[in-house]
Amino acid sequence: MNRDQLDELLCEAIETERGGVMIYETALSCAQNGDLRREWEKYLGESRRHEQILRDICTEFGVNAERETGGRKIVKGLAETLVKNMQIALSSGSVSQAEIVAAESVTTAELKDHLNWELIGQVASKMEGQDAAILKKAYEEVEDQEDRHFYHARGWSRELWASSLGVPSVLPPPEYKMNVKSGMAAEAMHSTRKLM
Ligand SMILES: [Fe+2]
Repeated sequence: MNRDQLDELLCEAIETERGGVMIYETALSCAQNGDLRREWEKYLGESRRHEQILRDICTEFGVNAERETGGRKIVKGLAETLVKNMQIALSSGSVSQAEIVAAESVTTAELKDHLNWELIGQVASKMEGQDAAILKKAYEEVEDQEDRHFYHARGWSRELWASSLGVPSVLPPPEYKMNVKSGMAAEAMHSTRKLM
């Protein structure tokens, strides 16, 4: 196990969650749909909790959670860009356009978040002892939530776009209705969507 690279992953993961908090806060001012608003309020709270969990892991591992790294700067820069994009969309005056930009911004941010936690799960399964137990406990609490964050955001992006295009759309998206929380379920959902 490359511990330096694990430290890097933890620092990037903290920064991703902090970016997620900023992104959800801004995205909420773009959300028109009531179900979307309620979901993002919930996920904002979960992102705050995930950041705390990661900081606790750093404390247990003796890792400086605030260490500046090259990767961390990139994660932070992307979050700031996504927030700025939503502010630009909001100021352009089209509320439906701003809502789509927000859903796409959340999807982009949650992809990285999802990847981080997938890797944390893989590391946990290959480690042994107390450190493995700490990572496993965190992963078990967060895994399903992160799956929902990503797959649901992708669903909202697709359906809000479809609705704006005037082609058949399902709102709230099937991922939301069916509480999709895995890649397999997300793929299976596509055939069900046609029926909806
Ligand atoms: Fe997330």
